[in-house]
Amino acid sequence: MKDSLPEHVFNYLEARDDFNLGVEPVDGSDAAAMTQLVQSQKYPLGGAFLLAATWDDRMFFSQEQSSFDRSFTAKVGSYNALAAAVNIDSLDFLISMSSGTIFGNPGQVNYTR
Ligand SMILES: NC(=O)c1ccc[n+]([C@@H]2O[C@H](COP(=O)([O-])OP(=O)(O)OC[C@H]3O[C@@H](n4cnc5c(N)ncnc54)[C@H](OP(=O)(O)O)[C@@H]3O)[C@@H](O)[C@H]2O)c1
Repeated sequence: MKDSLPEHVFNYLEARDDFNLGVEPVDGSDAAAMTQLVQSQKYPLGGAFLLAATWDDRMFFSQEQSSFDRSFTAKVGSYNALAAAVNIDSLDFLISMSSGTIFGNPGQVNYTR
């Protein structure tokens, strides 16, 4: 990976004194935990990628409330927890993956909305 673009990007980010790059474990759907994590950061949150997902694939007639809840908690729950922790409008960016589509994969009606 020497001299690769990702290496240049990470070197640039790490060299900035107004930026902190790290990894912290948290239940993204837990509003209190998310608020505590955001408030514990050295710098204000500039933006977020919402990438959490849980999978409970099954055919439509096998779907249950619990299979929808499981999928929704990771994605909608994480958004709601973030919205409780910060003013979403104050962020420079918010990127959410696969939160909407027209035709999903077979067995993923609980995931596609
Ligand atoms: N793979 C694809 O084909 C594909 C295509 C398009 C978009 N996407 C989207 O890209 C993102 C990443 O996909 P992926 O394939 O890398 O999925 P993945 O391997 O299943 O990773 C999803 C991660 O979300 C974590 N997670 C679930 N609930 C959480 C919560 N409440 N709080 C914090 N973390 C939580 C999971 O942690 P645990 O392992 O501990 O459960 C897991 O590490 C997802 O948003 C997905 O919808 C994926």
